[in-house]
Amino acid sequence: MSVLGIESSCDETAAAVVADGRRVLSSVVATQVDLHARYGGVVPEIASRAHIQRINPVVAEALAVAGLATSTGSVRAAAPRGIDAIAVANRPGLVGSLLIGVTAAKTLAWAWGLPLVAVDHIHSHAYSAMIGRERPPEALLPAVALVVSGGHTSLYHLADLVRIERIGRCIDDAAGEAFDKVAAILKLGYPGGPEIDRLAREGDPRAFDLPRSWLGPDSLDFSFSGVKTAVLYQVHGQDMNAPSRVERMDRRAKADLAAGFQAAVVEVLVGKTLLAADRIGVRRVLVGGGVACNSALRSALTSAGQERGLEVLFADPAYCTDNAAMHAALGYHHLRAGRTAGLDLAAVAG
Ligand code: KG4
Ligand code: ZN
Repeated sequence: MSVLGIESSCDETAAAVVADGRRVLSSVVATQVDLHARYGGVVPEIASRAHIQRINPVVAEALAVAGLATSTGSVRAAAPRGIDAIAVANRPGLVGSLLIGVTAAKTLAWAWGLPLVAVDHIHSHAYSAMIGRERPPEALLPAVALVVSGGHTSLYHLADLVRIERIGRCIDDAAGEAFDKVAAILKLGYPGGPEIDRLAREGDPRAFDLPRSWLGPDSLDFSFSGVKTAVLYQVHGQDMNAPSRVERMDRRAKADLAAGFQAAVVEVLVGKTLLAADRIGVRRVLVGGGVACNSALRSALTSAGQERGLEVLFADPAYCTDNAAMHAALGYHHLRAGRTAGLDLAAVAG
């Protein structure tokens, strides 16, 4: 059974075809990074307009790559043989962006006479580490999932394929957002996560004493604005009106700050994920979202897991940042559980 997935929650327009919730037949992502880079962040109006321009060609390409359509560039009015449902992320995200994917999905579901499935974008990130594995998802649960993306840092308990419960969340800047802001403070370009990851390899994570925010010994919530502000103070001094010293910092000092910041974030992510696995009593941890690409997080969490006999599964880098394969994969399980949506489905920001 194959599902067409659609993603448009932020600045990637994506479509994918996934068979049986785990075999990816196609995954097409049209990124808008180039459109937003000069503004240093996503501009919602520009994102919505770009989604409108790209959604049909992206869906057509996903069908063609999966071998379900003969031509790329346009979507036919007749249902392609081999698609059983359409899954779309209708929340959370930029509402103007979500609206484009939701409208496209509803239109195709109506025109093609197929069931429509709504998924939560963050639940899909939690599921994404199970895509493309030899073992079926049923064999990988129960688990705790850490979702570390641009907009969210959350811990989930996945009891089974449709019972996904949030057990921890971020109370201020998400991990990815903090990476992007620290990269902006260090003038490293956008998006900043990969830049910090690269530069940090040259730095000493102990050169600067940066804070770790635990929010109490039992808390599974996250806060990264403190460490971001600590980096800001190192670069500006305490006086925010003073000019940034970043131009006068040599590459070594910037690398030390990047390494110190990354180490502080990773230590908290690893500590709370282990605490969650311990508290829920599971032996497996899934990690998804853009920051799951981070090399320091991958090695620290993998070795901490090995020490404790926990299996840690990271999403493939292709499914870490926003994509539609994760929606099609999770949507398949919603479909099997009879959880379909009506054509009155709304796009929801929160
Ligand atoms: O999951 P995603 O596409 O966004 C949301 O759904 O919000 O993740 C994008 C985020 C950006 O903040 C980006 O800087 C971060 O993931 N990111 C990284 C790395 N690669 C991407 N952060 C740290 N290290 C990386 N290697
Ligand atoms: Zn995302």
